[in-house]
Amino acid sequence: MKIGIDKIGFYVPRYYLDMTSLAKERNQDVNKYKIGIGQHKMSVISPAEDIVTMALEAANSILTKEDKIAIDTILFATETAIDYSKAAGNYVHRMLGLQHNIRILELKQACYAATGSLQLALDYVRMQPDKKVLVLSSDVAWYGFNTPGEATQGAGAIAMLVSTNPRLAEVHKGTFTTEELPDFYRPSYQEVPIVDGHLSIRCYNDMLKRVDPHKNFLYTCFHMPFANMAVKANKVYSHPISDEKIEIVKAFTQEVGNIYNGSLFLSLISVLSLAKESLENETIGMFSYGSGAIGEFFSLTIQEGYQKVFNKNEILKHLDNRDEIDFKTYQSYMTFYKEKEVTHQFIESDFKPHPQNTFVLEQMIQGHRIYKKVSG
Ligand code: HMG
Repeated sequence: MKIGIDKIGFYVPRYYLDMTSLAKERNQDVNKYKIGIGQHKMSVISPAEDIVTMALEAANSILTKEDKIAIDTILFATETAIDYSKAAGNYVHRMLGLQHNIRILELKQACYAATGSLQLALDYVRMQPDKKVLVLSSDVAWYGFNTPGEATQGAGAIAMLVSTNPRLAEVHKGTFTTEELPDFYRPSYQEVPIVDGHLSIRCYNDMLKRVDPHKNFLYTCFHMPFANMAVKANKVYSHPISDEKIEIVKAFTQEVGNIYNGSLFLSLISVLSLAKESLENETIGMFSYGSGAIGEFFSLTIQEGYQKVFNKNEILKHLDNRDEIDFKTYQSYMTFYKEKEVTHQFIESDFKPHPQNTFVLEQMIQGHRIYKKVSG
């Protein structure tokens, strides 16, 4: 029995900051960002959005009425939770109008939780083949103003529907390794992570070497905290892919930045959208890394006729149609984000949501969030 990803959806905020604007304000040579780190743009979350609205947009782009009836589990992977207690998926459940006999869990393991959720979902569906699992990942990568990580920020969400007879990709079991490491973590009293950036790159590469399958793949997608991490990883990988293919693997990350849990799957979407050859029956390598630390290598086989469930034109249109914001607007959006996530008070914004968005965060009353469907 084949089990895997039946459909995949994505969402990145409609606003971005060009790295030229950041470099100018931070007194840095823009080539450090664009060539050294490999980032061209950073997606910036706007005041009417949060991890729930992003996950809703991603899920809404793929789910039909029939899917909604068959889903009996939501696994929501995030490392930028909005609540210590209540699962963000509860809000998703309400806004998507899903049935009530459903389990909802939120999972945390740095950037790895989405991969872990996907692998757990495969086993669940294997035991209950008539069920579908909605795996969501949604994060805001926020390191703070004037930090080395600032150039690697981003925000975005991925939704994957896991089922038997998947139309997009059969997902295979992975090889994983874990070791407690101090490379990147965010204690509960901190708004931003504590990061040893250079140590984290070494930890990432060590984990990759431990789970490297020593096999050749047409493409291998990597977790990308910044686009050139794929270049660094490819250098320590036993079967490096060509420079031309690495450009395709990292293309969307260059335009978006780190989206933490969804980053590996953004790379897969980049390959599905930009590969020049047909990917039907091709097996793609996937390396997932979560700081703190865990690494897993797995693979997936793209199914015949996958183009019917993967609309690359819509995805390219979404990325191309974003609006550039200036540095001041970036500053004000991220200041608002920080305040919204740390105060327990009601915050009302006169910010007008982007006209193309379907879901908005309307208000917070004592930390309880009220969302609104504005279109669709
Ligand atoms: P930095 O120390 O400011 O930068 O921060 P650098 O000095 O290392 O320079 C970066 C690159 O630009 C270097 O290239 C420079 O040579 C080059 P490399 O040696 O690496 O090939 N460079 C230039 N190139 C062209 N023209 C110039 C120029 N100047 C310099 N003028 C760092 C970089 C990535 C460390 C920082 O941004 C950071 O700390 N980021 C956050 C942490 C991170 O992304 N770690 C990666 C692995 S950990 C991970 O993947 C997990 C994570 O996603 C979290 C999770 O799991 O939850 C982060």
